Amino acid sequence: MSKQFFVTTPIYYVNDVPHIGHAYTTVAADILSRYNRLQGGEVFFLTGTDEHGQKIEKAAQEKGRTPKGHADLMVENFKNLWEKLNISNNAFIRTTDEEHKRVVQGLLQRLYDREEIEKRTYSGWYCTPDERFWTEKEVVEGKCPDCGRPVEHIEEENYFFLMSRYQDRLINYIEGNPLYILPETRRNEVKGFLRNNVLGDLCISRPKHRLSWGIPLPFDENFVTYVWFDALVNYYSATKYLSPSVHGSRFTVHGDWWPADHHLVGKDILTTHAVYWSTMLMALKMDLPKNIFAHGWWTVAGKKMSKSLGNVVDPHEMIDEYGVDAFRYFLFREVPFGLDGDFSEQSLINRINTDLANDLGNLLSRFLAMAVKYFDGKIDLSGSLDDFGKHCMKSINGAMDEQNWSHLRFNLILESIWSIVSETNNLIAREEPWKLAKEDQERLQAVMSDIWNALRVISVLVYPFMPSTAEKMWNQLGLRSLGEETKESYPEAGGIPKIFDWDWKPVYEVKVSKAEHLFPRIETKQGQRK
Ligand code: MSP
Repeated sequence: MSKQFFVTTPIYYVNDVPHIGHAYTTVAADILSRYNRLQGGEVFFLTGTDEHGQKIEKAAQEKGRTPKGHADLMVENFKNLWEKLNISNNAFIRTTDEEHKRVVQGLLQRLYDREEIEKRTYSGWYCTPDERFWTEKEVVEGKCPDCGRPVEHIEEENYFFLMSRYQDRLINYIEGNPLYILPETRRNEVKGFLRNNVLGDLCISRPKHRLSWGIPLPFDENFVTYVWFDALVNYYSATKYLSPSVHGSRFTVHGDWWPADHHLVGKDILTTHAVYWSTMLMALKMDLPKNIFAHGWWTVAGKKMSKSLGNVVDPHEMIDEYGVDAFRYFLFREVPFGLDGDFSEQSLINRINTDLANDLGNLLSRFLAMAVKYFDGKIDLSGSLDDFGKHCMKSINGAMDEQNWSHLRFNLILESIWSIVSETNNLIAREEPWKLAKEDQERLQAVMSDIWNALRVISVLVYPFMPSTAEKMWNQLGLRSLGEETKESYPEAGGIPKIFDWDWKPVYEVKVSKAEHLFPRIETKQGQRK
């Protein structure tokens, strides 16, 4: 039976126009999904939009639309970008889906029946734009400690989830499960926060007179659910109505997908996931996700991206200018996933010109030119050098290392793949096939067969990061489509498909042909600033 793999992105506020930050998490989930599919796994890749709350209600009002009407229009921005970015999600959840609302209400009722939710009078400081309460101590000179905007004093009745009960259990859980929160620095931050603070209870309702655009509490119609309670539940509710049924296994019911393997989130929303969501699940007596991974933030020239600074990076522009695969590659090669990184077009151009055009693209085009020249494109795969394959195996193993994948060390995985690229470039420099063509046909055949094979393995390994480049390479190497080969080379009883193996060979004769360069160099005019 094949392995099930369930990965999620945050659900994005439908009000925003998608930017590089949204693209970042979604491509990361896509890389994991594609890698797991290549491994023969059954994948559930979930993304979607967060559509309730005051911000949406206000924005809709300003545009003279209903909140749902506004969301219906805005959601297309995300769907379009995911298509353009080659995102292979198999579900898209909207928190306005009727099925989702029903699950949220069911869980709220369950918590209420178990006395995990209580009504209290609350007085405190409220930040309207952030839809968040703060205590007296947290407020900084009458302003929200998060966004710096003025807070207002509010006294009202509300429902509270008794989160404080779970403080010790959560600390123990995090301690007992080293992979639960990653990277480790973030895990330590959450632990430190939980150890040094008294965890309060969580206000999970808003009175309807103040906010109507939300899911009504099933036990009190005068209130709607706090937007985070509604949003976090998406990860579970989706398994009830949007998940794929698993082929060839006894699992055909949606519910069998929970818990998720990875929740990918930005560092700013780690607390809501690591603390709110974890304790909600504990109270519901449900399994916790296997991992919550918090990635860093992209800045521009060291500054936070913001509309007011006008420095927001638009993924559409980057894709139009540099191509989708180069953009995807850059995001995960430039900065370790987990750390903050600074975005600049110049560094993107540098990566394209060195790693992609020079190292990989030139390797492929030089090989194809030689293959056409010496063998009319026909590659004889019968002989090979003694040690080149063994040598490459070290880097192949690095690119497929379980630890690297479970810790989402994408930059190290790419580094390993690029070691194969440079080993192969070195092989050409060392063996000088143009001399062998005159002196030693047998060795020429072995060298060319090895280069072909290295390029083939590289194309499989880059597939999760650059799917269309992988397909192009695969075809230029004279193979049938990658998808077709993948399906055929799955071993009967699951396990790693053979196309990852150095020894895999197609059953038919391969004939390569020269084609356009994978990544043409980007020339910037002298002195032109990018
Ligand atoms: N709706 C909530 C999430 C609910 S999940 C149950 C939300 N949405 S968001 O649209 O504001 O943000 C989504 C993600 O974008 C967050 O993970 C956030 O970290 C990420 N990013 C926003 N700006 C970013 C950068 N500049 N760089 C990288 N990621 C950033 O929060």
